[in-house]
Amino acid sequence: MFDLRHQEMKANLSQLGLRQKSSDITRLMALAFQRPDILSLAAGFTDSESLPVEDVREIVQEISCLETEAKASLQYGPNIGRDALRSHLTSRIANCDLDSEAELQPDRLFITNGSQQALYLAVQTLCDAGDCILVEQPTYFVFLEILQGLGVEPIPMPMDDRGDVDLDVLRTVFEKAALDGSIEKIKAVYLVSYFANPSGHSISEEVKQALGELLTEFNSSIALLEDAAYRELYYEEAHPAKSALSIDSCCDLPVLYTSTLTKPYASGLKVGYVYCNSDEWRDAMLAVKGQQDFGTSHFTQAILERALLSGRFDRHLSELRGIYNRKMQALHRCLARSLLDLGWSWAIPEGGLYLWLRSPNGLPTGSESEFHKACLDSGVFYVPGDLCFVNNAQIDYIRASFGVLSENQLEEAAERFNRAAASVDRAIAN
Ligand SMILES: Cc1ncc(COP(=O)(O)O)c(C=O)c1O
Repeated sequence: MFDLRHQEMKANLSQLGLRQKSSDITRLMALAFQRPDILSLAAGFTDSESLPVEDVREIVQEISCLETEAKASLQYGPNIGRDALRSHLTSRIANCDLDSEAELQPDRLFITNGSQQALYLAVQTLCDAGDCILVEQPTYFVFLEILQGLGVEPIPMPMDDRGDVDLDVLRTVFEKAALDGSIEKIKAVYLVSYFANPSGHSISEEVKQALGELLTEFNSSIALLEDAAYRELYYEEAHPAKSALSIDSCCDLPVLYTSTLTKPYASGLKVGYVYCNSDEWRDAMLAVKGQQDFGTSHFTQAILERALLSGRFDRHLSELRGIYNRKMQALHRCLARSLLDLGWSWAIPEGGLYLWLRSPNGLPTGSESEFHKACLDSGVFYVPGDLCFVNNAQIDYIRASFGVLSENQLEEAAERFNRAAASVDRAIAN
């Protein structure tokens, strides 16, 4: 008799199952975990020191003192999310979109397990395998992984020197697609519109307005998928651009706006939200969400609702803005000491969690590159920028996250990075 218990069994996977591959970043992170001595500028984690432990303790205490509320929030909640939380978040978007004339309705907003779930639901209900979504270059690399997993083709949009979509060139792309009929396959444009991951770039209102006009002209069923995960994580001033929900030319398109309460408060609470101006699309997403989890954790939503309504959330967020500004400055200052002379370049972001570094003379920084090996040898780790480009088309960028390391650790990480850059520079010169 054989003992079959430990034998690996072959499952008969679906096309979707077969398409999945382990994520590059998970592989890289596993490598980092094997080396605890390494300082990671890779993880998009948030600041650990300042996590709102006391707030959450107080809120849980307040909830548990109210018998009815405690029991209600420990029970399943509605699939769409808690009413008061949804109303608050709807007004919050409207407040960010100062002077907006668009009247946002809480019925069009629902709560998700982080904005990551929102992105997945959005693509899953919009696209079949073989459809296309236009993406900025660079873009959020986990969004590219969603597309790969669902068999959706990412189409890189032409970009100009300022990091904006080049609308003149995009027009020619649409003209060609309209001629050969492939425009029908284009289902959406995905924008990371505020202090983007990875570039730190924000999209101006003019660009959004012109993009809306272009899409309406060619095919007004193409959706605008606006990912505003970092919108509230500015350091000193909010970015002035309104969201696509409040921009005239975009109002004739299906628009989905998603953001999150993870980055600006506590990532472990994992609550995000979606506002969608197409009721049909919203209903489809809610139906799939119902099949997946029939609602985001009710207790976690209750905590965040109290944090928001009591003002704790905004107090914490304003503290976080200062923390990330200082961390960004610390990393920038220390890297600048050596890297600028070696020909590296980057823009100083006004919000978000990342520096987006460009290496000199096209020096490759991918996970198999000499530079990556030199960094690992010197004990520092980053996200290779090629992951943020369709087909890994650009190989000379690095995403350096300053979210989780302390200022001292960031200085040490920058020292190590500088040493690696200097050693590779010397090797090239010899
Ligand atoms: C651009 C962007 N969108 C969405 C997410 C998803 O975040 P969460 O699921 O925590 O809301 C992230 C996380 O890093 C991100 O960088």
